[in-house]
Amino acid sequence: MNYYEQLFKRKSFHFFVGGKPTDEEDLKSIREFIGEVTPLFPDIKTEIVLVKENETTCHRGADYCILFYSEPKGECLRNIGYMGEQIDLYLNSRGIGALWYGIGKPKATRVNGLEYVIMIAFKRMPANSFRKDMYKSKRKPLEEIWSGDDLGIANIVRFAPSACNTQPWYVENKEKELSIYRYKKPGKRGIMPVNKVMFYNKIDIGIFLFILEVCLKEKGISFDRQSLPDTDDSELEMSKVAVYAL
Ligand SMILES: Cc1cc2nc3c(=O)[nH]c(=O)nc-3n(C[C@H](O)[C@H](O)[C@H](O)COP(=O)(O)O)c2cc1C
Repeated sequence: MNYYEQLFKRKSFHFFVGGKPTDEEDLKSIREFIGEVTPLFPDIKTEIVLVKENETTCHRGADYCILFYSEPKGECLRNIGYMGEQIDLYLNSRGIGALWYGIGKPKATRVNGLEYVIMIAFKRMPANSFRKDMYKSKRKPLEEIWSGDDLGIANIVRFAPSACNTQPWYVENKEKELSIYRYKKPGKRGIMPVNKVMFYNKIDIGIFLFILEVCLKEKGISFDRQSLPDTDDSELEMSKVAVYAL
């Protein structure tokens, strides 16, 4: 599976209208794929569980939901975003529509001592219902999310999905280093309660980092990632979350 190609066709299926039930073969391969997902922080324990949509509060017409549980430590939310985006893109590659569903809740809020974080709902969808022109999707202008040389990837990574389309990322490309920041100031964050914004935006950053890495690899740009703790409680507008030495 080529992650890069999936970036152009993925989209959020807010409602799974049409489509077909996901069959046993799909479920088997999804389970296998889940077992192979690469974490950003391997020392943070996680569990990924597949349940029927009706075992959750999600009522979007999906068949199944993938539930993410994590040990509540360090950058666990970033880790889940990074892992979950691999699954999101994998589902797309199989013609299965997906939705990161932040407001959903499962029956079990704890599994083996790990806490529930977020879910991804999915269902097999018609081939023509995937995104046809990524560049028509609503996003912040490039200059609001990237400074310095765009490396031929800035105009692709900016289409990463985020909760309520908040796009809480900023990249500074300077002196052979990419510095990645998370916006901390809530600003106009749509319908989300302010205390939830930070929670989701930390997941969004993990999603963004995964997509950034997919694009760097596609362009043959090697990198050395340094993850930084997102604990800066200063008044600064942005928190530096990672540095990629190119
Ligand atoms: C962490 C996260 C949580 C999300 N939660 C919800 C949600 O609760 N309900 C919903 O309809 N969409 C949700 N979304 C989907 C976003 O609204 C969507 O990704 C964004 O608007 C960009 O659109 P696109 O994914 O189609 O490119 C979520 C996305 C992310 C990344």
